Amino acid sequence: MAAPETIDLLVVGAAELATPTGVRPRGGAELGAIQVVARGALAIHAGRILAVGAEPELVQRFKALRVLDARGGTLVPGFVDAHTHPVFAGTREEEFELRTRGQTYLEIAQAGGGILSSVRGVRAATREQLLELLLLRLERFLALGTTTIEAKSGYGLTLEDELKCLEVIAEANRRQVVECVPTFLGAHDVPAEYKGQRAAYVELVCEEMLPRVAERGLARYCDAFTEAHTFDLADTRRLFARARELGLGLRMHADQLTDLGGAELAAELGAASADHLEHVSPRGIQALARAGVVPVLCPVVPLFLRQEREAPARRMIEAGLAPALSTDFNPGSCYLQSMPEALAWGALRYRLSAAECLTAGTLNAACSLGRGHELGTLESGKRADVIVLDHPNHKHLVYELGRNAVRAVIARGRVVVVNGPSERGPRDA
Ligand code: NIG
Ligand code: FE
Repeated sequence: MAAPETIDLLVVGAAELATPTGVRPRGGAELGAIQVVARGALAIHAGRILAVGAEPELVQRFKALRVLDARGGTLVPGFVDAHTHPVFAGTREEEFELRTRGQTYLEIAQAGGGILSSVRGVRAATREQLLELLLLRLERFLALGTTTIEAKSGYGLTLEDELKCLEVIAEANRRQVVECVPTFLGAHDVPAEYKGQRAAYVELVCEEMLPRVAERGLARYCDAFTEAHTFDLADTRRLFARARELGLGLRMHADQLTDLGGAELAAELGAASADHLEHVSPRGIQALARAGVVPVLCPVVPLFLRQEREAPARRMIEAGLAPALSTDFNPGSCYLQSMPEALAWGALRYRLSAAECLTAGTLNAACSLGRGHELGTLESGKRADVIVLDHPNHKHLVYELGRNAVRAVIARGRVVVVNGPSERGPRDA
């Protein structure tokens, strides 16, 4: 028998290992077709997954420098949150309370609150303050099992302030392990100084902001809040044509508050994702399916905004779409960082199974960010982003609400979080 190979880390003692498979988004009936390995173990070396399999086999094959005992927990891939607005200063709990008393998101925005109140906060904050806040939020993401986020700018809305936000994201990427995929969202709202001059603001975004952002490599995607009260289809078309010309991928806040035909446009322009989609039409769903756009659904947002309408997730899946689930973490419409919570609400609101939610919160989200070849599954060759859940099986992931059941996080092959105490959960062995 060959001598055991020496590796960095072996994860043993799990009741179950559950993971989607492959490097492409899984839609339709495949959404819930995950691989479940009873008493599965993982071999990790040099930041990568080296092998996945039955524990006795891996224990025999490898000699590990460190062994992590999952103590009856469940191993799943690190979560990928494909839609967040994490660069802001100041929170908006007053608006949350106003909504409990009947005011709507739009009424609050039109009265000068909403996005523009966060814009005032970001403009007044220094780069250092924003960085400190972002680093704290990234620590919280990590403790909740999220190892990759898409991170938008969009609360600066001047060239200088948008660059400030994107530079803060770049600096955060240098300082810690949660990967932030940067998105430029200069078209989040029309800032106060351009009130009544939307066309002039779109011109500024296209001709001054986008070229500078692209030239400095500060964003991988460009997003727009395409909505009746912000940027219409013609504005979005112009913004996205420019973004594409400059080499950026596209994501779109589409059909969130009204059916504007955002999904159809996202499909026509070959966007990587169309997000929210509470008001998407059957035609929009068909268009997204034909174009292979990933719908990024945010099940907690309508709850948070006290809106009845939810995204027709099951109809999207029937049409063959491969949805991602995300938090939409931001101070206004969803102050939530927990992917387990977002997945649980995905199950409750959209009638998704635990397996479907797992794929939506890992592989499909990674694919929407162009990272499916590297992230989102527990398979050899992928980056070793793994979490140990204090759950006896993956179904508990959406069944249990409210507790942070993440007991350990391995990011890029290193054990970076061990949350204790637990019934199950990891122990160095
Ligand atoms: O995804 N829809 C636009 N953007 C955010 C809300 C941002 C805010 O209210 O600050 C969203 O819901
Ligand atoms: Fe958003």
